[in-house]
Amino acid sequence: MKLKTKDLLTLKELSPKELEGLISDSIKLKKQAGKKLYKPVLKNKTLAMIFQKPSTRTRVSFEVGMFQLGGHSINLSPNDMQLSRGESVDDTAKTLSRYTDCILARVYEHDMIEKLATHATIPVINGLSDSFHPCQILADLLTIKEKKKKLKGLKISWIGDGNNVCNSMIYGAALSGMSISIATPKGLEPDKNTIKESAKMTDVEVITNPYKAVQNADIVATDTFTSIHNLEQGRTKKFLPKYQVNELLMKKANDDAIFMHCLPAKRGSEVTAGVIDGPQSVVWDEAENRLHTQKALLASLIRD
Ligand code: CP
Ligand code: NVA
Repeated sequence: MKLKTKDLLTLKELSPKELEGLISDSIKLKKQAGKKLYKPVLKNKTLAMIFQKPSTRTRVSFEVGMFQLGGHSINLSPNDMQLSRGESVDDTAKTLSRYTDCILARVYEHDMIEKLATHATIPVINGLSDSFHPCQILADLLTIKEKKKKLKGLKISWIGDGNNVCNSMIYGAALSGMSISIATPKGLEPDKNTIKESAKMTDVEVITNPYKAVQNADIVATDTFTSIHNLEQGRTKKFLPKYQVNELLMKKANDDAIFMHCLPAKRGSEVTAGVIDGPQSVVWDEAENRLHTQKALLASLIRD
């Protein structure tokens, strides 16, 4: 699947058809990987990876993904780059465009990824910003499709912080025909514009009551209460005990509901060990699927 967009910054760049295409490409790649069959479709391609923030899954899955597709990746710590001495993001983007084929960046301000995309002549992928995490949602949608055999018509319930993962999840739900109900404390709602745009395509409910949000839910999802960019002390107090995904809350969702979490997780905080390590949890398949969906994304953006 060739994508019309040059860059993936939020998820809204994709059309519903393109998103569906990426998921089916990921399924094919996953099947091939199961047989240790790796086609070198990215031979001679290089991915530049800039990480302003820590990462386990994103960094390793992109690096392994490039390797399995016959390409190469370079991990760039901003501290080791001239960025740390004040070289502009614009000039960095222009320079990397002369050496590499794609930039993956995990950044603080979303504005930085937008600047990289504007000034790079090569594709730019958002590997998480303070506002969006589109690559996570590609993996989440693949996981839901595997477990539920469809996406359209399902209900996803998001409990906790209306954060970067939640924002991209709203676009993911809208583009794939799922409804989404979000329960967040007042003041921690997802991005208003994301809600407005997505509400034109599907039902988006933002409420404060987690019990109401999980009613009839096929998927219950959450994330840490303290994202990397949340520096304030005592933030968890805004959420607990009301917004913890525990056994009682899971019982209010559909009997066959699955539990999702992008990881890293804090057991006893946003989710109990009983839920995340229990029979409804699909978090390890979700983590694995980062690899397959990222390979599909990379191939769709940079293969010849
Ligand atoms: N879910 C996710 O993006 O994990 P990392 O922060 O480890 O990359
Ligand atoms: N919301 C979390 C996701 C980590 C993958 C964060 O931004 O830290």
